[in-house]
Amino acid sequence: MAAIITHPFLAACRREKTSYTPVWLMRQAGRYMEEYRKLRTQHDFLELCKRPDLAAEITVTPVERLGVDAAILFADILLLLEPMGVGLEYTKGDGPVIHNQVSSRTHVEQLLEFDPQEALPFVFEAVRKSCAALNGKVPLIGFAGAPFTLASYLIEGGGSRNYLKTKRLIYSNPGAWRGLMERLSSLTAKYLNAQIAAGADAVQLFDSWAGCLSPEDYERFVLPHTHATIANVTPGVPVIHFSTGTGGFLNSLRAAGGDIIGVDWRVNLDAAWDYLGHDVGIQGNLDPAALLAPPREIRRRVAEILRRAGGRPGHIFNLGHGVLPETPVENVIAMVEAVHELSSR
Ligand code: CP3
Repeated sequence: MAAIITHPFLAACRREKTSYTPVWLMRQAGRYMEEYRKLRTQHDFLELCKRPDLAAEITVTPVERLGVDAAILFADILLLLEPMGVGLEYTKGDGPVIHNQVSSRTHVEQLLEFDPQEALPFVFEAVRKSCAALNGKVPLIGFAGAPFTLASYLIEGGGSRNYLKTKRLIYSNPGAWRGLMERLSSLTAKYLNAQIAAGADAVQLFDSWAGCLSPEDYERFVLPHTHATIANVTPGVPVIHFSTGTGGFLNSLRAAGGDIIGVDWRVNLDAAWDYLGHDVGIQGNLDPAALLAPPREIRRRVAEILRRAGGRPGHIFNLGHGVLPETPVENVIAMVEAVHELSSR
């Protein structure tokens, strides 16, 4: 247990000095890895999520293969929507689909109530099995979708380009929107706390699509609900608050909460950190496409991000979004090595 407490990833979450900058990658357990693709030929995605033995194996493999400083649970943000009765499906090529979309207050009221602990036992079993397999080598990150990003899937029925259905509901039916966000906010906090109770050492909240909003809309319609989620996470457990395309309102992301704010590559890390204030940590922010470049170029870009972080405590190196399926695994390994080597102090 002592090894975990002093691990660089958790120390960085607390903005303590570390002997090198810790690094992990969003979507490090995924399709760019041969081991994962092989398992996927035998099982569909939801089946993998619901088999704790396999989910734990997929969680641990990249830690061994890449030498990263944290594991992230193999699961998905949309698993929490399935027990609401909305019909979740992962279709080949098209990404996730929600069959019964939400477009009115009546729909919001029809969403089934449930306790995450009882409805998603396989997630918590996967946390326990992952912790056992990691055996204190690196911390385990649990995660959930932030209320806005989850709501956008419920309303759009999948991914979206402009989030028009979501915005239409926000603008034309603010009462229904508030009801939906309040449900999602309390559900998400319970879900994260159940992962923590099962052994997760830190949690990340993914607000992947918040960047489609104006600063004013984020502040009025999203911030209070994300704030409520984060405020209800078990005290003392680090929270990473991640989003993309939100460089124009990082102050509001910060105000919503989190020990570490995740930023993408559309903003320079030093400018983002100045904007956030140096009394909060930062995670990021290499462009995932940079991992398609030759290793020398990857190393140069890693050095540039580390230079912008300025050796300040509280930087966790990551991509600005998930690893792309096209990424060569050797390039990921080169990135992790470059971060460790160039940040050693
Ligand atoms: O990071 C990890 O390695 C842990 C596992 C993880 C997955 N999804 C596995 C997954 C995590 C943390 C997520 C989060 C997630 N899921 C987000 C937030 C992060 C982000 O990328 O913005 C979102 C928006 C989703 C929803 C989702 N799930 C989409 C849009 C898709 C399809 C497109 C894609 O990127 O693959 C999924 C499917 C999914 N989730 C896969 C994996 C490994 C691929 C499934 C397959 O094998 O076909």
